Amino acid sequence: MEVRPLAGAVGAEVLGLDLAAGIDDFEFAAVRNALHSHGMICIRDQAAMTPEDQLAFAARWGRISIHPYVPSIEGYPGIMRIYDPNPITQTWHSDSTHMREPHAYTLLLARTLPEVGGDTMFASTVKAFESLSSGFRSVLRTLSAVHEGTDRAAAAGLDHESVVAVHPVVITHPSTGAEALFVNGNYVTRIEGWTPEESRPLLEYLYTVVGRPENTYRHRWHQGDLVIWDNRCTQHAVVGDANQAERVLHRVTVAGGVPA
Ligand code: SIN
Repeated sequence: MEVRPLAGAVGAEVLGLDLAAGIDDFEFAAVRNALHSHGMICIRDQAAMTPEDQLAFAARWGRISIHPYVPSIEGYPGIMRIYDPNPITQTWHSDSTHMREPHAYTLLLARTLPEVGGDTMFASTVKAFESLSSGFRSVLRTLSAVHEGTDRAAAAGLDHESVVAVHPVVITHPSTGAEALFVNGNYVTRIEGWTPEESRPLLEYLYTVVGRPENTYRHRWHQGDLVIWDNRCTQHAVVGDANQAERVLHRVTVAGGVPA
């Protein structure tokens, strides 16, 4: 197995693994270390993986978390089908932060790709936080933010209280100890104790810092790519330029703890 960084801030590709055939605990530990070092990894050439293989591999990372309001594909609870880019996937975010225990990891397997377009951007929220002044970082460490589910939660009949969570604006990664920004444009509606209007300028500034080119990597998908990201130290956003071409990816998420 070979790990090759794809960018300076976030992302690496992993070559030489056949997940459909299975990997041993030693190899799995190396993959996990690669993810914790790079925030996002792409394991190449996994087109042979079946939905069962993807679920079994995801279960090695922790408990599979079934999305509270987006349905799974028929016959495979835990696998969500990601379609064309849409306003939610195109906004920089980490996954399901409106949950009390948001997803730790997301595994996305390319099934059908457009000829061009539909790349996915990744950003290191650790590098983004590190780039701020020490005075500003100290202030941010004192704040929490309110995260709320999108309109799709209401459309699915969930009551509002079940899709609201308050998390620190800066969290510490439970495995690496790195501090990271933990606010995103999909789910955060305000800083706790502030009005939405008061919160907006600060939040918009932080989103701009997250998306600065030097904090990012743009992933051009290839058939069989299995991309895994760590939601505690990265954000992602799809580039909405697939021009209606078919784009299907299978997504499995793994439960995380309460961000702190
Ligand atoms: C997502 O935001 O979970 C989907 C990412 C993608 O479609 O590339």
